[in-house]
Amino acid sequence: MDDYEQMDDNEILVFPTNFKFGSSVAAFQVEGNSGERKADWDIFLKNNPHIVKQDEKGPQWWKEGVAEKDLTTMADLGLKIQRISIEWARIEPEKGFINHDAIKRYRQIVKKIFSLGMSPLVTLNHYVLPEWVAKEGSWESPNIVKYYHRYVELIVAEFPEVTHWLTLNEPNVSIIMGYVTNYFPPQRNSLFAAIRASKNMIDAHKRAYHTIKNANPNAKVGVAYDFRWDRAANPSDPIERLYTSMVNYFGELWYVDAMIGTSDFIGCNFYTGYFINFNPMKFKLKFPSDKHRMAKTLIFGEEEQPDAYQSDFGWPIVPDFLLNTLHILHHSYKLPILITENGIADRHDKHRAFFILTHLVAVWRALREGIPVRHYIHWSTVDNLEWAEGYTKKFGLIEVDQITGARKLRKSAHLYEEIAKSGKIDIDHLIEKYIEGDEQKEKANEVIRKLLRGELSRRIKR
Ligand code: BGC
Repeated sequence: MDDYEQMDDNEILVFPTNFKFGSSVAAFQVEGNSGERKADWDIFLKNNPHIVKQDEKGPQWWKEGVAEKDLTTMADLGLKIQRISIEWARIEPEKGFINHDAIKRYRQIVKKIFSLGMSPLVTLNHYVLPEWVAKEGSWESPNIVKYYHRYVELIVAEFPEVTHWLTLNEPNVSIIMGYVTNYFPPQRNSLFAAIRASKNMIDAHKRAYHTIKNANPNAKVGVAYDFRWDRAANPSDPIERLYTSMVNYFGELWYVDAMIGTSDFIGCNFYTGYFINFNPMKFKLKFPSDKHRMAKTLIFGEEEQPDAYQSDFGWPIVPDFLLNTLHILHHSYKLPILITENGIADRHDKHRAFFILTHLVAVWRALREGIPVRHYIHWSTVDNLEWAEGYTKKFGLIEVDQITGARKLRKSAHLYEEIAKSGKIDIDHLIEKYIEGDEQKEKANEVIRKLLRGELSRRIKR
C-alpha cells in the first residue's frame, strides 16, 4: 500500500486547520499610474511606449474603493491572507519628502484587509525603486542600504498592526533581469554591477530584518524568492547533474544562503521548471527574454520542455517540480515555507483550474511528508501589469478589462473557493466540475496520482 492509500480511502485531502489560503498583488502592477509616484519603472515604461497602450489604465487600485472591491471578492472566496506591497516610490517620491497621503491610502487598504477577516502579508520592495534612488545608482548605490533602512523604519512604525513582512521580492530576478539580461531597469548589463547590487540587496534585507524585529519582536520577516528548481535531463549523467545544481545554486540558493540567518521563513514563488541539458557545444551568451527562461541555460546548456501543458507564457505546468523544490528547501533550511506566489498566465482560463488543483495536491503531499508549508498565496488577485510584457499576460483570479476597468471572476476561482472554504481537496468532484475536456480530466487524474505517490515526472525521451 502506498502512502496515499493509507491516508485517504475516500480521496479527500484535508489541509491542517491552521493552513491559510490567499492571493497576491504588487503595488506597481495594480495601481495604474494615477497619483503621485516617481519610479524607475515609470521611466522605463515611458521610454518603451509599446509596453502599455495609451488607453490601458490597469486595475486602478490607487483609486479609493477599487482595491476594496477586489479585496471583498477575495474574502468572499474564503481567502484569509492578502499579499500586497507598499511602493517606496509613492511614499518617498523625492529624496527626503514623505507623502503622507500615500501612507493614508495604504492604511485604508491594510484596514480593509483586516476588516474582511484576512491578514496582510506586506512586501516592502517588489522590483521597483524611486526614480531618485535610480539616479544615484539603484541597488549599486553605496547609499541604498541606508536609504532603504530609513524607508523601512518609517513603514514599520506607521503599520504596527502588520506582523508579516517580506523585505524583498525575488532578488535573483531583480538582479538577473536588471543587471545581466537587461530586460528590466536599470538595464546595466554588467556582471560586476550585478555582484555589487546583490551585495547591497542582501545587506538591505539584513538591516531591514533587524529594524522590523526591533520595532516588533513578534513580527515574522522573510524574503520571497523565485524558485525554478530545474532538474538534470539525464539524472544518471553526473556532469549534467553537477551543471544543473550549479545553475540552480547560482540562480537561486545562493541568495537564500546569504539571507537565511535573518529569515523567519522562506517565501517561495513558484511558477514552472525545465529539464537542463548540459551541452558544451552549445555555448551561448544570448539570453532568452522572459524571466523563467532567463539565465538558467547560460552558458553551456539547453532547456528541455517537460511533457506538460503550458501557460500563455509557454511555461510548462509542472506541479511535481514544486514538490521537488519544497523537498530541497526543507532539507536545506528547515524553516517554515510560505508559498508567496504561484499562478498561471491563462487568458482563457483553460488550464488555471488544472494548475491550482495539481499544485495544491503537491502542497498537500509536501505537508503529508512533514514539510512545514504554512500558507498558499495565489498569484494573482487580479489581471495586472506583467512588467515588460504590459497587460498582455493574464494571471488574475479576477479578469480585468484594462480599458474600462470591468471585473469578472474567472470560473477557476470557484475551484479555489471550494478548497479554501472547506480546507479540503475533493479530487473527483473538483476534476469533474472544473477541469475542462476529457483529455485534461484524464491528465489531471494521472498527474495527481503521481503526485500522491511522490513520483517526479521524467524528461520526454528524444
Ligand atoms: C513576480 C510577479 C510577476 C509574476 C509572474 C513573479 O515572479 O513577483 O511580479 O507578475 O512572477 O511573472
